[in-house]
Amino acid sequence: MTLHDSPFLRACRRLPVSHTPVWFMRQAGRSLPEYRRVRADVPMLDACARPDMIVEITLQPVRRYDVDAAIYFSDIVVPLKAIGVDLDIKTGVGPVVADPIRDAEGVKRLRALEPDDVPFVTEAVGELARELGDRPLIGFAGGPFTLASYLIEGGPSKNHERTKALMYGEPELWADLMHRLSAITVEFLRVQIAAGASAVQLFDSWVGALSAEDYRASVLPHTSWIFDQLGGLDVPRIHFGVGTGELLGLLSEAGADVVGVDWRVPLDRAAQRVQPGTALQGNLDPATLFAPWEVVARRAADVLSRGAAAEGHVFNLGHGVLPTTDPDVLARLTEFVHTETAR
Ligand code: CP3
Repeated sequence: MTLHDSPFLRACRRLPVSHTPVWFMRQAGRSLPEYRRVRADVPMLDACARPDMIVEITLQPVRRYDVDAAIYFSDIVVPLKAIGVDLDIKTGVGPVVADPIRDAEGVKRLRALEPDDVPFVTEAVGELARELGDRPLIGFAGGPFTLASYLIEGGPSKNHERTKALMYGEPELWADLMHRLSAITVEFLRVQIAAGASAVQLFDSWVGALSAEDYRASVLPHTSWIFDQLGGLDVPRIHFGVGTGELLGLLSEAGADVVGVDWRVPLDRAAQRVQPGTALQGNLDPATLFAPWEVVARRAADVLSRGAAAEGHVFNLGHGVLPTTDPDVLARLTEFVHTETAR
């Protein structure tokens, strides 16, 4: 097998596969004891800037689960930190921004990202691509709405009220902010692709907070631009957000090759909502992994049979692995998907 013919890349391109490929969002992280060990004395954002840590943590779930793709270990706020935004990632909380953006002055301070701002990305991705051989490495970045929400709210938010206030109340400033964040995201993804990432995922995780109308008017033009910029690079582009049942059509309209679906919409229904020529990724509820194995297996089989209605299917969870998940269940699930779908 070659990288180009790997089941993951073939499924993204809607080609026949030898088995349904599987990987898990947040497959690297606190659910793994080997992750907790290497991270014990190293703050999250320090780890994200050290190639030796990035390589080790990215490979940990590949060794343990035999998943069909690795995902680059980093965080969506890493490029923001790299251009000088004063922020930190607090365990159990998430990204926290010291001086949240509330006005034009704040927006103007967001400068462009240059490859030289993230030399550790180039180094780590290059080494990972060599180590992984024919197994794809997925690069990723945050979507503009999700990044804007952290910057404006100053941290995680349930209602995104300040973000929406700026979006509804100051559309021109909002567009300027979206422009800048989209350009940062494109550059961050380009660096990963240039160094050897063979697919990319845009995590606009919190965009499900918007109505379809607001998404179309205030976010879609920017995500379309992002996917457009990456279009000539011959890497599959995955687009994911949580609670986006009503937005699935628009997420694919933005130009994604693959739309990631959370657990709220069955994949056969999601297949009817996306544009023709779109593969799907998902969507077992991560909380299912805490139920008895028989339940996990039955529900995973249901995801697979509904996924068969899509033009291509990459098995995944509907959102990230929860930190208290038993890694043995993920190992068993990976094997289950591989054996159930072997052809
Ligand atoms: O394995 C992988 O999926 C790759 C690594 C990855 C991380 N963050 C590592 C991480 C990825 C793809 C992300 C993306 C990310 N970061 C998103 C989009 C994905 C999603 O979940 O929707 C978002 C919204 C963030 C922001 C963020 N960073 C949150 C909400 C948190 C969790 C806070 C917590 O402690 O519960 C983080 C921190 C973070 N990013 C951790 C990891 C492994 C935990 C840090 C730790 O170990 O203490």
